[in-house]
Amino acid sequence: MTNQLQIHDTLIDLTQGDITDQDTDAIVNAANSSLLGGGGVDGAIHRAAGPDLLRETRTLGGCQTGDAKITKGYRLKARYVIHAVGPIYRPSDPNVANLLASAYQRSLEVAVENGLESVAFPSISTGAYGYPVEKAAAIALKTVSDFARVQDQIKLIRFVLFDPLTWRVYDQALRQISP
Ligand code: APR
Repeated sequence: MTNQLQIHDTLIDLTQGDITDQDTDAIVNAANSSLLGGGGVDGAIHRAAGPDLLRETRTLGGCQTGDAKITKGYRLKARYVIHAVGPIYRPSDPNVANLLASAYQRSLEVAVENGLESVAFPSISTGAYGYPVEKAAAIALKTVSDFARVQDQIKLIRFVLFDPLTWRVYDQALRQISP
């Protein structure tokens, strides 16, 4: 199942599957601030990349929530992994939406800084970090579509959704921003 939206030079593409299978220039990891691995997509990426990934992330000194850092992809098809730290969802915290948007924005900035042209994202913060998928999808798609309008280096921004329900929520959110 896919759905797509072209914005200037950038194709925004939704697909369902396992992000470790992606051969985009970079895949984004939904990491925690230690960058030392975890469960969910973090665990899957570290398993697929092999132990050299942790050896490199150990040298980075962690990563703040809302920021992103890049490493090599090692055994992954993707040449790079961009480790983004999304917020843990707290309904009382007015800043969580900005922090989630920042995780996407910083990932794209890091991709541009490294000369990349294609990036695959998971649904950041909507698993263990408890962010409601509907809210997160709207923030994610607004952030990446706003980014796509003002740059022409990145040609493909893909969301790789792990389950049909999450895919459907992102599909609905993409239709909301499609002309
Ligand atoms: N490919 C794509 N998406 C995946 C994969 C995968 N292989 N595995 C899980 N997902 C999806 C989940 O179903 C969810 O929709 O990624 C989304 C994010 O879920 P989490 O991986 O739990 O990430 P997050 O909610 O951001 O929580 C981050 O969990 O794994 C730990 O170390 C991580 O502490 C950090 C926290």
